[in-house]
Amino acid sequence: MSGTAPWWRSAVIYQVYIRSFADGNGDGVGDIAGIRSRLPYLKSLGIDAIWINPWYKSPMADHGYDVADYREIDPLFGTLAEAEQLIEEAHRHGIRVIPDIVPNHTSDRHAWFQTALAAGPGSPERERYIFRPGRGPDGAEPPNDWVSCFGGPAWTRLPDGDWYLHLFAPEQPDLNWEHPEVRAEFESVLRFWFSRGVDGFRIDVAHGLVKDPELPDLPPRPEPARLGPLVSRDPAREQPRQHVDHPHWDRDEVHDIYRAWRKVADEFPGDRSFVAEAWADTPERLAAYVRHDGLHTAFNFDFLMASWNAKDLRAVIDDSLAMLGAVGAPATWVLSNHDVVRHPSRYGRGAVKQWVANEPYRPEGPLDLELGTRRARAAALLMLALPGGAYIYQGEELGLPEVEDLPEAVLQDPIWERSGHSDRGRDGCRVPLPWTGHSAPFGFSPEDAAAAPWLPQPASWGKRSAAAQSGDETSMLELYRTALRLRRAHPALGDSSLTWLDAPTGVLTFRREPGFIAAVNLASTPYRLPDHTTVLLASGTVEGGLLAPDEAVWLAV
Ligand code: GLC
Repeated sequence: MSGTAPWWRSAVIYQVYIRSFADGNGDGVGDIAGIRSRLPYLKSLGIDAIWINPWYKSPMADHGYDVADYREIDPLFGTLAEAEQLIEEAHRHGIRVIPDIVPNHTSDRHAWFQTALAAGPGSPERERYIFRPGRGPDGAEPPNDWVSCFGGPAWTRLPDGDWYLHLFAPEQPDLNWEHPEVRAEFESVLRFWFSRGVDGFRIDVAHGLVKDPELPDLPPRPEPARLGPLVSRDPAREQPRQHVDHPHWDRDEVHDIYRAWRKVADEFPGDRSFVAEAWADTPERLAAYVRHDGLHTAFNFDFLMASWNAKDLRAVIDDSLAMLGAVGAPATWVLSNHDVVRHPSRYGRGAVKQWVANEPYRPEGPLDLELGTRRARAAALLMLALPGGAYIYQGEELGLPEVEDLPEAVLQDPIWERSGHSDRGRDGCRVPLPWTGHSAPFGFSPEDAAAAPWLPQPASWGKRSAAAQSGDETSMLELYRTALRLRRAHPALGDSSLTWLDAPTGVLTFRREPGFIAAVNLASTPYRLPDHTTVLLASGTVEGGLLAPDEAVWLAV
């Protein structure tokens, strides 16, 4: 890691899904007090920064991604003063803080939307959002055929006859980014938080802000391999992906917005940075977000969507490094987040076939969690050895699997209702963390808590708690701690490049300078490690110089 490169080029950033991280006040929902109490844990894990999912004032129709006031903390999570204390204390622990900003839509309770509702059709107040008359004789048909990411149409009709656009839930009306007040307001919100010391922002739905002004219907289906994995074992899809012009995703004009945001970040000292949640058709399209005058980094979802297959992973790694390198941006690798099935549960099943971004992916078939966990350990060593930065989703370091048997009665993700109960949604990766003890709430809430955790924790999670794993050298937690410690100390890791080494089919082996090799065995037979190397860290046990299938190793040369 170069001493002069900005921190975000190689940072390991831990995602705090605030509702489920730690509950300080005993109401069953995680909060800022909980995060503050766990800063020593985060410090000992060895991460560089935390990304905190939305903490703003919100009616919680989509757990905070429906923001009613971008300058207030929701009382469920705490107060603005507590947020300021958290930023200050995190900095004292050497941890940077990155809140989430949600610019594509507001809550329907946001003052702007309420004013727009009251002002009526044709009013200037409605121009901050995307209101339109309907189609058909009585305007009873939506203005176009766009669909909500949560299921159902992307338009809702008001009693006064107007329709408004929401790419997500009806409680999340889309803003009109052609409106100068919308642009000015968000730049002001960024300054509000930058001046309170935040180190950057994760930008929600960064690829969705600009819509085709004509609001045309969607392009005819089937779209060619849109947003799917780079290569796939499905021979029909073994072709380079192509960008498809889409009326509301990843339009070129969106970059003007981020050029302006970059200028705002640059007004503040200390390398403030952005990470885009942008789902792009191709690595080139993704790279467009992180050009020198635009955003700093973007999540690499191709890596997350790749199945446990050496060819797919290598193609993703090569293409990502090539395209991002061409614009001078670092890669940021990610395996899990609050929107996707946790990776031990993904890798414990057959190959991921045609995972289309922006569409729900729910793996099916029998789960071999032991296998999935072994692969998750190997994947962690792969991710943390790659050039660039990495994201860890809370609980990933505990090896938490997806909770797939939550009772229907407790499901809260709007996807469950909006899909007409055909998709259980994302609650299974959002179950509150187990910290300590043998029964719920496993230290998530204080002992005298008034309420149970907002989603029930599996009874078996005592053995997965942070306390149970701490000090156990074979645990997932200690694997992450050791990997992060080595990564921090080793001059070959972090930013810079890699060189692939020859290896049998199904094995990924690469070298980083000085003196570091990573090997991952995705084949079905053991792999003999290169000569003249010593093991720094292994995801399993290396015996007789052989790396077993589904295991990974870091070597010193
Ligand atoms: C992003 C968030 C997701 C949220 C959606 C709408 O994809 O990660 O959790 O539901 O945006 O804001």
